[in-house]
Amino acid sequence: MKVGICTGGGDCPGLNSVIRSIVRHGMLNHGFEVVGIKDCFNGLLARPFQTMPFDDPEDVAEILHRGGTILGTTNSGNPFSLKDPKKVGNVDESHLIVEAYKELGLDVLVVVGGDGTQGIAYRLSKLGINIVGVPKTIDNDLAATEQTVGFDTAVDVVAEAVGRLQSTAESHDRIMLLEVMGRHAGHLALHGGLAGGAHAILIPEIPFDVATVAQALKARAAKGKKFSVVVVAEGAFAAGDDPMFKQSSSGSVNLGGIGAKVAEVLYKKTDMETRVTVLGHTQRGGEPSAYDRILGTMYGHQAVEMVKKREFGKIVSFSGGKMKSIDYTEVAGRFRPVDVKNDVFLKAAEGVGICFGR
Ligand code: F6P
Repeated sequence: MKVGICTGGGDCPGLNSVIRSIVRHGMLNHGFEVVGIKDCFNGLLARPFQTMPFDDPEDVAEILHRGGTILGTTNSGNPFSLKDPKKVGNVDESHLIVEAYKELGLDVLVVVGGDGTQGIAYRLSKLGINIVGVPKTIDNDLAATEQTVGFDTAVDVVAEAVGRLQSTAESHDRIMLLEVMGRHAGHLALHGGLAGGAHAILIPEIPFDVATVAQALKARAAKGKKFSVVVVAEGAFAAGDDPMFKQSSSGSVNLGGIGAKVAEVLYKKTDMETRVTVLGHTQRGGEPSAYDRILGTMYGHQAVEMVKKREFGKIVSFSGGKMKSIDYTEVAGRFRPVDVKNDVFLKAAEGVGICFGR
């Protein structure tokens, strides 16, 4: 079997452990030929193709601890709808991917990615490309699996930041707002805030009432705790409002700005000083946690087993302590938000008195 691997979407810690696992398990135990595709589908759109062949399992030595992805990635450019500088509107160049897949002699393409990348992979599978998907994203918002690669490390980063903000908040009697990633899901804010000991957590799944948050923080202050840390997911919004977006210098539009907005309102409602920290891409960078290295290795192992059994058009899944494979048709386009009624982490967080503004 000739196996192609690519990593797509926003990078995250743990991607290299998936690559290492596929290369080593595939080559050592199944005699697969493995070739890396650079910058996800862009490596197959480019002429000449942009690849990184692996000649020996030792080619992936010492990458387990490294953050990012040795293959590179991109979260812009959908081969089904690419910007064409010569024309108005977008063009479908997916035929170039099919052509590259055939010319490279690939038997399967293992696509490590989040929802956007997996959506494209699913469409490619309908064009006849054998696909095996591996779920990753610090947002942990894929319906395919209980936990995505990269999430655990990002939770550690958020938890550490909450702890650091607490000591300075206490010295100054301030309310610290920490804006974290997660797009339209609040898993990262919830887990990071829970682990770090945040006093309030605002997530997109629970449109918040800022007066309720102000009241909770004032109640703490009345008991002598004149400081608080509030974790705000970038996609959170007040009841009746919409999520906030901001444009980057290069023109791309991402969520952002809600931390500053909540800080302003909380200052007015509590008369306590507020400061805002936007954690940004520190959540995606750096070395993976031990758990993400293990999870990535297991996902890579399962992907190789699926290739061996020719289980194509499926995505690796970890659920109830077991590695499984799920058909793309079951998970395509299915987003996994925090379940506001049944999420066990949310119940525990509310149980210890963390305010969610509801
Ligand atoms: O989906 C992963 C993610 O890190 C989100 O949490 C965040 O909103 C987004 O990607 C940022 O993407 P970019 O790489 O374009 O800044």
